[in-house]
Amino acid sequence: MRLAIIGQGRMGQVLRQVAEQKGHAVVAQAARPTPHFWADLTAEVVLDFSHASQVPEIVRVCLAKGLPLVTGTTGWASQGPALQELARTYPRARWLWSSNFSRGILLLKLLLERLAAFWSQLPDWQAALVEVHHAHKKDAPSGTAYELQKYFPPLSDISSLRVGEVIGEHQVWLSASGEEVLIIHRAHHRTIFAEGALWAAQWICQQTHFVGPWEAAFLS
Ligand SMILES: NC(=O)c1ccc[n+]([C@@H]2O[C@H](COP(=O)([O-])OP(=O)(O)OC[C@H]3O[C@@H](n4cnc5c(N)ncnc54)[C@H](OP(=O)(O)O)[C@@H]3O)[C@@H](O)[C@H]2O)c1
Repeated sequence: MRLAIIGQGRMGQVLRQVAEQKGHAVVAQAARPTPHFWADLTAEVVLDFSHASQVPEIVRVCLAKGLPLVTGTTGWASQGPALQELARTYPRARWLWSSNFSRGILLLKLLLERLAAFWSQLPDWQAALVEVHHAHKKDAPSGTAYELQKYFPPLSDISSLRVGEVIGEHQVWLSASGEEVLIIHRAHHRTIFAEGALWAAQWICQQTHFVGPWEAAFLS
């Protein structure tokens, strides 16, 4: 694929490296795309790992240009409904997003969706989520924490810890008197997000129309 990457930070750099290792061509990359960047673009798909403040403009331009877009940037949930409304006015829009492209978090969402259907049978159980990320992370709670909560609403109690260089950890605590279940997803390196985003990019390029979260391609 011919890719454009928005973001040149930790994720932008890893994504470029993984994409090139896999034989894709990164035809453009910018931290803050200018009109010139968009005008000259020859990419087949755009991958955004930048900052929440940039997401609305990136979505608007990609929709207007008919460019498939994979949004990995987090922290823009408040703008989500308006942007999805806009996307609905483009019958051939191709836009997917995820705050966590790792396959492990996809698995966790699958598990939580099953658990949510069963939870009312366990009225004495409590659920809580702990998420830990590096000290440079701009948003808290993490976008992934909110998404996990969406699949399993009893996770209303979220604790965030920002420390050191932790790439990302999400702990789901389920507990009752005398027992507990702890499910942990730990990201050991950023490559897992880059690989997932490239998988998503390949998938969206094969669609004629799709607007939604990445997991909607797998979950009910
Ligand atoms: N979906 C996933 O799987 C996944 C995984 C990891 C991270 N993320 C998300 O991806 C995004 C980027 O993460 P990262 O770790 O690569 O961040 P980062 O290292 O801070 O890089 C951010 C990039 O965005 C640019 N940028 C543009 N406007 C900015 C602004 N107003 N404030 C700050 N930066 C701005 C930065 O440019 P300058 O350096 O020139 O400021 C830099 O190139 C974050 O939203 C993060 O939560 C998603």
